[in-house]
Amino acid sequence: MTVAEKKLLLDINDLKVHFNIMPASSWPWTKPGKLKAVDGVNIRLFEGETLGVVGESGCGKSTLARAIIGLVEATDGKAVWLGEDLTRMPASQKREKRKEIQMIFQDPLASLNPRMTIGEIIAEPLKTFYPQLSNDEVKEQVRAMMKRVGLLPNVINRYPHEFSGGQCQRIGIARALILKPKLVICDEPVSALDVSIQAQVVNLLKELQKEMGLSLIFIAHDLSVVKHISDRVLVMYLGNAVELAEGDKLFANPQHPYTKALMSAVPVPDPDKERSKQIQLLEGDLPSPMHPPSGCVFRTRCPISTESCAQQKPVLKGGDSHAVSCLQV
Ligand SMILES: Nc1ncnc2c1ncn2[C@@H]1O[C@H](COP(=O)(O)OP(=O)(O)O)[C@@H](O)[C@H]1O
Ligand code: SF4
Ligand SMILES: [Mg+2]
Repeated sequence: MTVAEKKLLLDINDLKVHFNIMPASSWPWTKPGKLKAVDGVNIRLFEGETLGVVGESGCGKSTLARAIIGLVEATDGKAVWLGEDLTRMPASQKREKRKEIQMIFQDPLASLNPRMTIGEIIAEPLKTFYPQLSNDEVKEQVRAMMKRVGLLPNVINRYPHEFSGGQCQRIGIARALILKPKLVICDEPVSALDVSIQAQVVNLLKELQKEMGLSLIFIAHDLSVVKHISDRVLVMYLGNAVELAEGDKLFANPQHPYTKALMSAVPVPDPDKERSKQIQLLEGDLPSPMHPPSGCVFRTRCPISTESCAQQKPVLKGGDSHAVSCLQV
């Protein structure tokens, strides 16, 4: 099925999240500076698809995720979920949407309440949203979900610190899926895990997605991780979406100079190709989102920038299957 034939779940339109930051030594009349964590992102997410989101640390991936789920307030723009704008909803209505949109966090142990047993952690969303369920019904659903994510039901009364990072992430996944959501936003769910465990967790998410017809937003700072799970990939740089494409198109034919640089650093399995490969190193540091460059935010590190790149801000152009934000493409 092509993107155009799928049902639209989430339509993010010019979404901005700007934080007000006071300088360390400021006078009472000093105006706060603006940190542009997310600065006008447009993406559409379809039913059953996995959208990978990649970019360097600090480029706004988590803030974008948190704005969608309502953990931070959007400064401007829209995030329309099945026809309703999540950014303008009253808190009570937003909370209701947690039945449909759930999140999995990067640090599996820190995201679990240390004073609750595994059973209580996984049951909590069920008890909150379906208080009419009996204890036995809740327990039955929790045990079934534990089994589904590869946890033995006899550990139901243990505490998070008794588990490894990979197992804690399975607990986080069980908790996120117990309400049978339509979308799960996974914010770097494997970044804190050993490489050997990462593939197990990615494969589990892939299986669950297929089985439950879930949509996933899968955030990572590493392209090789998103490659295995994503139908489409969004590349972010300094709060902006620079390229969005179907996975195979992006990996075979990256268009944006930033994506090209990221891609050149991904190891290829063929040792001869790997040896002869040219890695495109990016010059300079990531600029501060407090003072992003004028025009194209990538221009200070772009190998093909021209004078017009300082004057004009490019927009993401193209369709849902491949769009690029660059004045030269
Ligand atoms: N609550 C906040 N207050 C102020 N600045 C924030 C806040 N959350 C994130 N930021 C800043 O926003 C930018 C994007 O952060 P983040 O979304 O966490 O990036 P990523 O997830 O890509 O690493 C960073 O510069 C970060 O310091
Ligand atoms: S708009 Fe200019 S600076 Fe930005 S990526 Fe394209 S060529 Fe480079
Ligand atoms: Mg993050």
